[in-house]
Amino acid sequence: MALLEILVYPDKRLRERAKPVEVFDDELKQLVKDMAETMYDAPGIGLAAIQVDVPKRVIVMDLSEERNDLKVFINPEIEAIEGKQEYEEGCLSVPGVFATVERIERVRIKALNVEGEPFEIEADGLLSVCIQHEVDHLDGKVFVDYLSRLKQDRVRKKMLKEIKESQAA
Ligand code: NI
Repeated sequence: MALLEILVYPDKRLRERAKPVEVFDDELKQLVKDMAETMYDAPGIGLAAIQVDVPKRVIVMDLSEERNDLKVFINPEIEAIEGKQEYEEGCLSVPGVFATVERIERVRIKALNVEGEPFEIEADGLLSVCIQHEVDHLDGKVFVDYLSRLKQDRVRKKMLKEIKESQAA
């Protein structure tokens, strides 16, 4: 097991479009384990592989209080069912920044598990928000993209300043 380095916005590698997983082998299982460990350590509730510089369509998530309910989505596809909702979102790649984003309320998710077996769930509330946020990552999108130009500029400056400061330290 290993902790992976999380890319920080506005790193260009976060803009890459992740490729579907085709081989369900030990390497994939190791990636999922390392991503889960990295997410729990951060701590966060969701992590997409692209955030650790692996451009594959893999997501790990745990929304439980006890941090013992790991969900893994490989090659996820989302279909809107109904409604709209607003949530205050944050992201491990944009530490310290939280902003309200409008998402679809109820979605259907089709994905594969780590063995390559298909499953389907319906989600609303936080699970729905989180899966939409993470699938955005797989398409090279970050939640900051939903904010106004002015707010995006502020976030970019804040992150670049923090990166500079941490490098100087
Ligand atoms: Ni994120």
